[in-house]
Amino acid sequence: MEKLVELRGIVKRFPGVVANDRVDFELRRGEVHALLGENGAGKTTLMNILYGLYKPDEGEIYVRGKRVELRSPRDAISLGIGMVHQNFRLVESHTVLENIILGLREDGLRIDFEKHRRRIIELSERYGWKIDPMARIWQLSAGEKQQVELLKILYRGAEILILDEPTSVLTVQETRRLFEALRRMAREGKGIIFITHKLNEVMEVSDRVTVMRRGRVVITKETRETTKAELANYMIGRPIVFGQKKASAQLGAVVLKVIDLKVLGDRGYPAVNGVSLEVRRGEILGIAGVSGNGQVELAEAIAGLRKPLAGRILLNGVDATGMDAGKMIELGVAYIPPEGNKLGIVPGFRVVDNLFLKAYRYPPYSNKLLLNWGKMLEKARELIEEFGIVTPSALSRASSLSGGNIQRLILARELSGIIGGIPRLIVAAYPTKGLDIGATEFVHDLLLRYKEMGSGIIFISEDLEELLLLSDRIAVMSGGRIRGVLAREEADAEKIGLLMSEAVVQAG
Ligand SMILES: Nc1ncnc2c1ncn2[C@@H]1O[C@H](COP(=O)(O)OP(=O)(O)OP(=O)(O)O)[C@@H](O)[C@H]1O
Ligand SMILES: [Mg+2]
Repeated sequence: MEKLVELRGIVKRFPGVVANDRVDFELRRGEVHALLGENGAGKTTLMNILYGLYKPDEGEIYVRGKRVELRSPRDAISLGIGMVHQNFRLVESHTVLENIILGLREDGLRIDFEKHRRRIIELSERYGWKIDPMARIWQLSAGEKQQVELLKILYRGAEILILDEPTSVLTVQETRRLFEALRRMAREGKGIIFITHKLNEVMEVSDRVTVMRRGRVVITKETRETTKAELANYMIGRPIVFGQKKASAQLGAVVLKVIDLKVLGDRGYPAVNGVSLEVRRGEILGIAGVSGNGQVELAEAIAGLRKPLAGRILLNGVDATGMDAGKMIELGVAYIPPEGNKLGIVPGFRVVDNLFLKAYRYPPYSNKLLLNWGKMLEKARELIEEFGIVTPSALSRASSLSGGNIQRLILARELSGIIGGIPRLIVAAYPTKGLDIGATEFVHDLLLRYKEMGSGIIFISEDLEELLLLSDRIAVMSGGRIRGVLAREEADAEKIGLLMSEAVVQAG
């Protein structure tokens, strides 16, 4: 098969790291090529080079056999290269159509909206999507926004598609739909580069897979000639055991009691609609469900970031309803927010500042008048070590960290007990999203460690496998309500799925 892309000897250095170290990579026409590697392995950097965002320090790029020089994404786009970034780059207040034709130059002075509208509908139907060109972006689900991003690059005639962790924002159903579309694109002769951390997805959708580690390519293989275990080994350099967690801890007193809680969502209607639940010391309560069903609003209310409309929140028997985030932290609540990359850090601040966003005003780091920088730096270095944050130093800017390392930074800040002691309650919203398998294992172990030390834990996830692995009980949430709670022994994927779908029928 024709080579659509060939990268030879790509080197890219950033201050303190070699992000890409003599990388060779090839994309063939008609293939889905998975790009796999730990957080910070250099995947996004390599793709940003192919998309013309970064200039490589060394190396050569060939597109359809011709050596090219990519000075900007414009050059890449004109060669038929398109990239969907992990964070969508659409204009929220504009329509789908406006977003797609934004920056197109073919029409001359007059834009024929009707023609574009028809073409967009055609294109969207071809891949099994139902996108209304006149809908505004903010009205769309994450899955639909991604379809618009893809339509946008397909509309420009892209046949080399780069998707950076596209499934981390998708539900199971949306992921399935995306894979069908990708297979279809491959059959049409396009080439697709698919970055992911999920080995199941690699096995399911890709034809070939390239594994990177610390800036280098370890191996490229036909997917059918490898296994999950082998890939994990290439990725982290040691074997990994799948699905064998045992969490044992004595359940203690009730840490958190939520009674008939109602919380408004951003669109002005109740996102949490009468939730009651209980978490004990040493217990992990899993919350299953398709994201966007009130999970985050529930978490934010418990963390003091959103005022409840009605109902009560009791922490160790103390009424904490409506207390702000600062008070909740003092009461021992640690909150790991979702989509850490965007919300959890201040990108322009240094790593140490981000680690101390909350704790800086407490002793021993401050004595009301002065901040003790020495102490903070010392602690920051410890945390970087303990949580395995890959960064040149504690003084580097957080924006220069890779996605997974930003997530580790947030975990370090929230869980390390810098404010004193072990959290009484940990509310973790999708804490492993976007993490590689090594880091996911690390987060799992961390939660289990806190469980053993007596923290009560609310663990929100869409991944049934990890929910079943870690939870003592699993509550199924949809439409702002808890539809049922299953003990670990009785829970399985089928029962959970059933509770979710019953709820949909009820809601609809
Ligand atoms: N703009 C930048 N400035 C400085 N360092 C950077 C920059 N972009 C990336 N790096 C560094 O280059 C290395 C590779 O990062 P990259 O984002 O390519 O990793 P990745 O494989 O995509 O990881 P993840 O799975 O976590 O997204 C990391 O050490 C990262 O900190
Ligand atoms: Mg990345």
